[in-house]
Amino acid sequence: MSRVYNFAAGPAALPLEVLQQAQAELVEYPGLGMSIMETSHRGKTYDAIQQEAQANLRELLGISDDYAVLFLQGGASTQFSMVPMNLLPPGGVADYANSGAWASKAAKEAKKVGQVNFAADCSKEIPTRVPRLDELRLTPGAAYVHITSNETIAGSQWKEFPQTEAPLVADMSSDILSRPFDVNRFGLIYAGAQKNLGPSGVTLVIVRKDLAARAPETLGTMFRYQTHIDHDSLYNTPPTFGIYILMLVTRWVKAQGLENLYRRNVEKAAKLYAAIDGSEGFYKGTAVKECRSDMNVTFRLGSEDLEKQFVAEATAAGLTSLKGHRSVGGIRASIYNACPVAAVDALVSFMADFAKKNG
Ligand SMILES: Cc1ncc(COP(=O)(O)O)c(C=O)c1O
Repeated sequence: MSRVYNFAAGPAALPLEVLQQAQAELVEYPGLGMSIMETSHRGKTYDAIQQEAQANLRELLGISDDYAVLFLQGGASTQFSMVPMNLLPPGGVADYANSGAWASKAAKEAKKVGQVNFAADCSKEIPTRVPRLDELRLTPGAAYVHITSNETIAGSQWKEFPQTEAPLVADMSSDILSRPFDVNRFGLIYAGAQKNLGPSGVTLVIVRKDLAARAPETLGTMFRYQTHIDHDSLYNTPPTFGIYILMLVTRWVKAQGLENLYRRNVEKAAKLYAAIDGSEGFYKGTAVKECRSDMNVTFRLGSEDLEKQFVAEATAAGLTSLKGHRSVGGIRASIYNACPVAAVDALVSFMADFAKKNG
């Protein structure tokens, strides 16, 4: 069997070099005589892996000592609850920019903890978009402001982040490590690993240390950021194998260079959007042009039947997982860091052929 071009939204394609190295080290990690999966999370070998994963992330994103880099479990969905549990005090207000399905889910969980203000709400608009900076109505004295940097389902992305007085919290699940940005603008960043960072099962949290101290005393131990800061993500058993793969991915990103990857991501997305815009209406992009995501390219065809045919024929041609999210339909090509340019070129060529035959 040969590897297909995988456009899955997450879990998503991983760099081939990472998979090959993991394969080579799977049964016997160098110098250990066993798999990394079989060794203690408190041993020297695993410790070096976790330290390197943290150090690589710090280097790649310029994360200062004011922030902790944590590897947690429960996915980004657990962070929807942990963020307000730790940062939203009784009587406080949290501002949420509602840009789509993922921001809505985050806000829904925050409402269970305290008061939520929608600083802007374009979650139901079609074409899809993220709020403009000038339409954000922020609450003076808000506990924090929450954004979703990339709406994976809608295919929309913040190109510029708001300047906020309150700590800015971002769900960066689907675009972390795809572009350089200033971490210092944020109070807390979280991301499920399964798109740009590694396998599912690891959640990255980058949190300004002073914010973690805000959690109420009554909050359960595992739900407190402070616990994981105090124990360097080793309070309980972390997902060691996932963190090992994440470390290999950060090594790979360092070797590529984050700026280079960013440039390549923009080029990949531009090729697909050009194929959509140049199709004389055969393909229609679903996001407002200024908000088009460089990670998830979403579009529609003339009918659902034609979309089904598109997905089936693409799959047969080795271009897989192009079906849009079940809640919105259409087509979605997820083109994260590990998606090679050749995959995008193959898809562009397939799209042109398909339009010619069916237009
Ligand atoms: C932007 C965004 N936030 C949150 C989630 C949920 O992540 P998890 O499955 O890790 O809980 C996803 C999953 O696709 C996502 O794309």
